[in-house]
Amino acid sequence: MSDCIIAPSILSANFAKLGEEVDNVLAAGADWVHFDVMDNHYVPNLTIGPMVCQALRRHGVTAPIDVHLMVQPVDRIVPDFAEAGASVISFHPEASSHVHRTIQLIKSHGCQAGLVLNPATPVDVLDWVLEDLDLVLLMSVNPGFGGQAFIPSALDKLRAVRRKIDAAGKAVRLEIDGGVKADNIGEIAAAGADTFVAGSAIFNAADYADVIARMRQAVAA
Ligand code: DX5
Ligand code: ZN
Repeated sequence: MSDCIIAPSILSANFAKLGEEVDNVLAAGADWVHFDVMDNHYVPNLTIGPMVCQALRRHGVTAPIDVHLMVQPVDRIVPDFAEAGASVISFHPEASSHVHRTIQLIKSHGCQAGLVLNPATPVDVLDWVLEDLDLVLLMSVNPGFGGQAFIPSALDKLRAVRRKIDAAGKAVRLEIDGGVKADNIGEIAAAGADTFVAGSAIFNAADYADVIARMRQAVAA
């Protein structure tokens, strides 16, 4: 799977005009909307839930909504997000008592399922479930906040996960999240990522279309 997906994280958007921000970033060339859900329990921050996801759908957003759950427990919020219009739902294995069960739960609600690896989570957590997944989300910062610096060891980890996905021979997307910028996305793509979350790099820029175009060029180079 080599097509490049750019998924702006709305964590860095202006929440006072969220619908407009999402419209603008999609018009600027974004593919997915990355939706960070934080519970002040699994991570030390509090953000948005299913009602906001549903509001974006009612506003007219048709692009895939890529829900990144940083919540514990996981399972009871999954049906609410599916009903609210989530397309992909990803969760952290440390936050679920039964990882395989949570993956099946997400899929049974008609969504694609993703597993998120924190910077210190070993890649072998993917063993025995990789073939059930639609996406692996690799964190290149510790979850909880936008605007942090990319952790360089994530590059080697990307290569390790890419090898596992290729060996499994299944179309599983490899998404990277945290500190992704136009000037490092090229090496991140070369290490094996095909799906790129970027929050501050896009929403703090004056011209969303210009950053997204520069990101795509760097990935294609
Ligand atoms: C962090 C979130 C990220 C965050 C990325 O916990 O999962 O999606 O918004 O923000 P940047 O791109 O600014 O590092
Ligand atoms: Zn995220």
